[in-house]
Amino acid sequence: MKQTICNDVYWVGALEWSKDHFHGHELSIRHGTSYNSYFINDEKKVLIDVVRDSHLSDLADHISQFCKVEELDILIINHAEPDHASGLPRLLQMNPNIEIYVSRGGKISVTRHFPGAEKNLKVVKTGDEISIGKRTLRFFEAQMLHWPDTMFTYCPEEKILFSADAFGQHYAAPERFADQIDQKGLWFEAEKYFANILTLYSQQILKKIDEFLKLGWEIAVIAPAHGMCWRQNPTQIVEKYIQWATGEPQKSAVIVFDTIWGGTEKMARAIAEGLEDEGVSYRMFNAGAADLADTMTDLLSCRALVVGCPTRNNKLLPTLALYMEEISGLRFKNKIGMAFGTYGWSGEAVKRLETFMQEAGIEVVIPGYKCQFAPSQEDLAKCREMGRELGRKIKAA
Ligand code: FEO
Repeated sequence: MKQTICNDVYWVGALEWSKDHFHGHELSIRHGTSYNSYFINDEKKVLIDVVRDSHLSDLADHISQFCKVEELDILIINHAEPDHASGLPRLLQMNPNIEIYVSRGGKISVTRHFPGAEKNLKVVKTGDEISIGKRTLRFFEAQMLHWPDTMFTYCPEEKILFSADAFGQHYAAPERFADQIDQKGLWFEAEKYFANILTLYSQQILKKIDEFLKLGWEIAVIAPAHGMCWRQNPTQIVEKYIQWATGEPQKSAVIVFDTIWGGTEKMARAIAEGLEDEGVSYRMFNAGAADLADTMTDLLSCRALVVGCPTRNNKLLPTLALYMEEISGLRFKNKIGMAFGTYGWSGEAVKRLETFMQEAGIEVVIPGYKCQFAPSQEDLAKCREMGRELGRKIKAA
């Protein structure tokens, strides 16, 4: 069945129902994903992006509704990460003469990933246009949304923006438009994508979006490389990206802890009670049981991070070390934090948590608290007071 996006523009991509993680084992995905490719049926037969090699036969089947793969004239590679482009070598075997348009960064990433493709490449930059018959394709280099090679391709006659990974979601469904599916799942996946993939590049993203909006290109549809297309108020997702990249925090906290014999968990619960005393909402995650990527999604929009870990082998538990490495890499904006934990005889974990937070750009606003072996009633009262103090700081922000 033809999946029409707009006049003569069709979705010809593939759905991924079988994976629960992406990027190796790094990123959990709850709703599957899609590798979106789009076909434009003009005087030139144009394909926007390939798909993962494992799904190339789906792509070829979908294209066959319009033409043979070997009859495609033009391929646009907006971004060459293998989930979108690893099907390229086999597509080139079927169609060795296809012209491939890439950004300057795309020339590097395609050549490095797929040696042999370079002879087909044509490099374009922001503002360049090509005619495909009745329509035009115009390019915008969108570096760090989310790779240096990323570019957007825009068709002014249809007012459709092919935006690569930007504005996408890991979401597999037979529907093609954001307004056709469950909104809770849609927005969770859109925010999760931003939190885990894009947060580090927030400053560049704000500049790039500003540069793009100043071009004044009218948009009727945004067609990303994963998930649903945006056609009702399509720039609502652009506005969300600006909000997320700005790091506007809600007056809430995320508590992440792990525990060996329950002492650090008791401290976490006492801090949480202190936040409740101040009417501040929070989400609490046991790092040993929670999902890292889901936790990062909650962290994106909260004001405070509270982290707790027992000391073991003079260091953090590996579960917390993983979380802190991720948090310091993503560099969330506008966050305050505090640390806590139990120890037996050395007690380095709290200091290490604070160091990680400082590396992450999180302001440690309340000195960390540690207690030996099991927390006493006095220790827990102290934790509860720390929670209250943090709650007041969150509300004052
Ligand atoms: Fe969906 Fe950056 O690849």
